[in-house]
Amino acid sequence: MAHDAEEKIMTSIDGQPAVTLAGGSEMPLLGFGTWQARGSSCYDAVVAALQAGYRHIDTATMYANEAEVGRALRDSGVPRSEVFITTKLPPDRAGHESSTLRASLHGLGVDAIDLWLIHWPPAGRRSVSVWREFIAARDAGLTKAIGVSNYSAAQMDELDKETGQRPEVNQIRWSPALHDPAVHQQHRKRGIVLEGYSPFKTTNLNDPTLTGIAEAHGVTAAQVVLRWHIQHEIVAIPKSVTPHRIRVNADIFGFTLTTEQMTQIDALGHTH
Ligand SMILES: NC(=O)c1ccc[n+]([C@@H]2O[C@H](COP(=O)([O-])OP(=O)(O)OC[C@H]3O[C@@H](n4cnc5c(N)ncnc54)[C@H](OP(=O)(O)O)[C@@H]3O)[C@@H](O)[C@H]2O)c1
Repeated sequence: MAHDAEEKIMTSIDGQPAVTLAGGSEMPLLGFGTWQARGSSCYDAVVAALQAGYRHIDTATMYANEAEVGRALRDSGVPRSEVFITTKLPPDRAGHESSTLRASLHGLGVDAIDLWLIHWPPAGRRSVSVWREFIAARDAGLTKAIGVSNYSAAQMDELDKETGQRPEVNQIRWSPALHDPAVHQQHRKRGIVLEGYSPFKTTNLNDPTLTGIAEAHGVTAAQVVLRWHIQHEIVAIPKSVTPHRIRVNADIFGFTLTTEQMTQIDALGHTH
């Protein structure tokens, strides 16, 4: 068991907690989700997010909003070097990896991204061939880190066995109701950062455990859910196109959940 990998050090970029990926990049634990945000609504949301302090944006080729994300980044005045950008390859682009990445870079208006993910596992052996292209893109400096999304531990082990390179990140659906310490541990012991998506879509924000803890800290249940991710060192990427929610979701660094409160929230996953 890779003990060192379990001792992941939480570092900080501009006051925001971050994790160090296996390849050495620093990934902010709070990111901004952009799925289903399109056109001017996406542009406005990303500008608002950067103004609210997010320094990590999650997009994908499939979201068809990379151009808006890129324009928002440039117009925000926040230097490119301060923002961690993730995009994802749709598996049906297997065999066309480098042209798809070039299109992402062009859309975003950047020379390189911070993290490129395989959006979900392509069928059969194509997963390994796509992963080899990811390694080549990383080696060519077009992305600083590489990872996957919606992969099982067995599927990630297969990539490692075939190429000697583990994914640095796996982005999967995660929330208190989906909390599964065994799955989290599978990632930690491999030195793979777990990035959670859809923190709210699978959460009852009126759950009395969450509202009770929220009241005790003078925050909202949504903030409690995001803070819970951060304290588990799980990356959270809430999406919102509502200015007030964008700000509230980023305001999670002024309170700390107690060990007991963390355990109470963890227990919401035990019914699954
Ligand atoms: N890799 C994958 O396969 C995958 C799959 C799904 C998602 N993702 C990524 O993960 C990100 C987040 O997941 P998601 O967009 O599915 O869902 P989410 O972030 O869990 O939920 C977004 C929904 O919650 C609402 N919301 C936001 N903040 C709220 C708050 N404080 N209180 C109450 N409601 C709030 C939003 O409404 P408004 O926008 O109207 O404010 C929106 O309807 C995506 O945007 C995407 O970047 C990845």
